[in-house]
Amino acid sequence: MRVLLTGGAGFIGSHIADALVERGDEVIVVDDLSTGCRENLNPGVRFHCLDVRSPQAARLVEELGPDVICHHAAQVSVSRSVREPVFDAEVNLLAGLNLLEAARRAGARFVFASTGGALYGDAAVLPTPEDYPARPVSPYGVSKLAFEHYLHCYGAQHGVSYVALRYANVYGPRQSPHGEAGVVAIFCQRLLAGERPVIHGDGRQTRDYVHVSDIVRANLAAIDAGLTGHFNVGTGRQVDVNHLFRLIAERIGTEVEAVHGPPRPGDQRTSALDASLIAERLGWRPRVGLEQGLEETAAWFRARVAAAR
Ligand SMILES: NC(=O)c1ccc[n+]([C@@H]2O[C@H](COP(=O)([O-])OP(=O)(O)OC[C@H]3O[C@@H](n4cnc5c(N)ncnc54)[C@H](O)[C@@H]3O)[C@@H](O)[C@H]2O)c1
Repeated sequence: MRVLLTGGAGFIGSHIADALVERGDEVIVVDDLSTGCRENLNPGVRFHCLDVRSPQAARLVEELGPDVICHHAAQVSVSRSVREPVFDAEVNLLAGLNLLEAARRAGARFVFASTGGALYGDAAVLPTPEDYPARPVSPYGVSKLAFEHYLHCYGAQHGVSYVALRYANVYGPRQSPHGEAGVVAIFCQRLLAGERPVIHGDGRQTRDYVHVSDIVRANLAAIDAGLTGHFNVGTGRQVDVNHLFRLIAERIGTEVEAVHGPPRPGDQRTSALDASLIAERLGWRPRVGLEQGLEETAAWFRARVAAAR
């Protein structure tokens, strides 16, 4: 199968590239390296350093005629989306439309990295199912949801086959500790540097943490399936930041305590996704428990810090 993977030099995309190359698929990565990096690129992919907003990216789709576009390139910061909503919409909505138009012309299937937490907000139902009303409160959530509507529209109007995967909080090796998201990566990096990480607010806000290898399996299932739909991808388990911090500190082997800072404006209190639909339709279930996933992630960060010394 020929897969055009956007964002394949980033955290999640690079793990998907590894799995696709491993099973013998032809993989073309499109990434502008704005947050991704060359060292993440699997040597078995063909790489095009391109902005997904560009006409060249759309032309590439039409020239190569992939079977599937797996779209992971994005502006991933919720707070940047609040500061720069036009930029967010250009990258997360208009660039997606640029590729979706090209996918329609090329007859390609579309798999889209959407979000669960940022769509449902502080939901009254936890874990939250897909049919819960999506009322995003950040421009990031709005652009992801708006693009899901475009997918639905292209399915209805043009018969484009697609899957939107609504991820919970993804963690694992290669996640950047330099952004403001990715709390697992940030805690690992700070603790290994002997610094005290900051927990925003009382730390009792909960999230649903899903390991990147489980996200990869959801993508492989979505790429291979003929069906169309929107699916949550999470564990359904709520874990608060204080507990997460303790689990990571234990694995790093440190007694250092976190510092509590002011709460971040607009931070959600709770989030967990009900992933029964994807279990039923695609046979996907999470396999990596949080404790095990953190063990492996902490070991990866430890090795990286040691190699950099
Ligand atoms: N990490 C999470 O917890 C999470 C949760 C929900 C959804 N997602 C979605 O998953 C996808 C991947 O996220 P990630 O965590 O791997 O982030 P990431 O920043 O590691 O990866 C994004 C990649 O997209 C590339 N990119 C950004 N803008 C681009 C542009 N204009 N043109 C070409 N390439 C561009 C970056 O260089 C990077 O390699 C994103 O769509 C994100 O919104 C992530």
